[in-house]
Amino acid sequence: MKKLDIITRPDSLEKLKVLLERFSVGGITVTTVMGCGIQKGDTSGELQGLTIPGMNLIPKIQATIVVEDKACEEILNTIHEDLSTGKVGDGKVFVTSVEGVMRIRTGERDSKAI
Ligand SMILES: Nc1ncnc2c1ncn2[C@@H]1O[C@H](COP(=O)(O)OP(=O)(O)OP(=O)(O)O)[C@@H](O)[C@H]1O
Ligand SMILES: [Mg+2]
Repeated sequence: MKKLDIITRPDSLEKLKVLLERFSVGGITVTTVMGCGIQKGDTSGELQGLTIPGMNLIPKIQATIVVEDKACEEILNTIHEDLSTGKVGDGKVFVTSVEGVMRIRTGERDSKAI
């Protein structure tokens, strides 16, 4: 199983929800977060790929899903296709391996629990 931490623009949440409906995603956790990437929060649009001193934290949303290994690549490709605006600040997806999952109600584990 893989965990995808999808950090993106708050405006992109509805699009993300719609695209995830196309996959057998068993659940989702969404939080509002603050962050910055390589431009350190510069919003002038002029600092593509450059680093500047200091940091300006910008509101983003973080959606976390846990999926089967085999679903991961297609979900990543679809997120790129649907959420990329081509402008800086579209966000990132951090992918990590998941050791285990348990559904508390039934005690089911791993694939049966997601
Ligand atoms: N290396 C990182 N570690 C942790 N969080 C990160 C990292 N890079 C980006 N993020 C998170 O992702 C959000 C969006 O990042 P952003 O899309 O600006 O990345 P970027 O690398 O600057 O890409 P781009 O050049 O397209 O803007 C940030 O606000 C931050 O919350
Ligand atoms: Mg950026």
